[in-house]
This record gives sequence, C-alpha cells and structure tokens, in this order.
Amino acid sequence: MTRRPGASAISASQRRMAAATVRWRGRWPTPRVDAVQLTYNITDRSAEQRLLPVAAERGLAVVINWPFRRGELFRRFARHPLPEWAAEIKCTNWAQFFLKFVISHPALTCAIPATSQVSHMKENMGALYGALPDTAMRARMVRYTEGL
Ligand SMILES: NC(=O)c1ccc[n+]([C@@H]2O[C@H](COP(=O)([O-])OP(=O)(O)OC[C@H]3O[C@@H](n4cnc5c(N)ncnc54)[C@H](OP(=O)(O)O)[C@@H]3O)[C@@H](O)[C@H]2O)c1
Repeated sequence: MTRRPGASAISASQRRMAAATVRWRGRWPTPRVDAVQLTYNITDRSAEQRLLPVAAERGLAVVINWPFRRGELFRRFARHPLPEWAAEIKCTNWAQFFLKFVISHPALTCAIPATSQVSHMKENMGALYGALPDTAMRARMVRYTEGL
C-alpha cells in the first residue's frame, strides 16, 4: 500500500501506454500516479517526445534509470576526448558529461546512476557541482556525441 503511487520499468514499447496512464491523473479523486521512473540518457532521448512533457505538465516526480545506458555510453564514447567546452559546465570526465545532460532536463526530479566502484561514485558525484547545461549547451552536447 502507498499513499504516493508510481510507475516504473517503462520500456520504449510501453511508453505510449505509460503516457496515457500519466494523463489520467487529475481525472480521479485520488491521483493514479505521482511519480514515474523511466530511461533517459544522451543517446536514448525518446522520453522527450511524450513522457517528460506530460510528467512536467502534471507535476509528477520523475526518476531516471540507466543514465549511462547500462555502461554502454562509456564503452562507446570514453575513448574519445571530452570537448574543451565541457569545462564551461564543470565536467572533467565523461560520467559528469552524461549525468549533467540527464539531470538538466527541466522535467526531472533525480537520476539513479549505478556503480560498483568507489572511484566511479566520486566521479559521478562531481556532477552535483557547477552549472548545469542550458538548452543551447544541451543541444551542443547531443551534436558532439552524435558526431563521434
Ligand atoms: N525500476 C526499474 O524498472 C529499473 C530499470 C532499470 C534500471 N533500474 C535501476 O537504475 C539504476 C541504474 O541502472 P544500471 O546500473 O543498469 O545502469 P547505469 O547506471 O546506466 O549504468 C551502470 C554502468 O555504468 C558504469 N559506470 C558507472 N559510473 C561510471 C563511471 N564514473 N565511469 C565508468 N563507468 C561507470 C558501471 O560500471 P562500474 O560498476 O564499473 O562503475 C555500470 O556498468 C539501478 O539502480 C537499477 O536498479 C531500475
């Protein structure tokens, strides 16, 4: 039992249904959903199309899983240099670049990156410091990774 119901494990194939579920909120005396957990990262931005705008409109808490795409982002990009302009948003490593991209989306409440290594946790926590990217910087980050 819970006072604040949420929906998680939202895969791409379930997103249309999930968006509809989120929209139901407000039509019932007790809200159907107060929080959603879904996948969002710099190479999987499909949640930007429907779920994140609807969640923002409805004031839902949004928890992001797989911010590193289960580690795939490191395997794909870590051999490339971080762009010099990443320093403008205080990113000194790829982990911070990926996390700052995710958590700067205005609809988000939090992200839940996972690691088994203390050194990685310290890197990841660095994303809590310094400026977050604005809309123009977010677009620049996407263009950079798409060009690699
Ligand atoms: N509720 C749901 O339906 C649902 C669904 C999916 C996931 N989740 C949750 O979401 C969270 C994240 O999921 P996830 O672990 O699969 O994906 P993730 O956070 O996107 O990726 C974790 C991977 O990134 C690596 N990593 C983390 N920090 C790093 C760093 N600084 N440098 C290099 N590599 C780094 C980790 O390796 P190392 O261990 O070597 O650092 C691990 O292989 C988990 O808590 C999971 O339980 C929930």
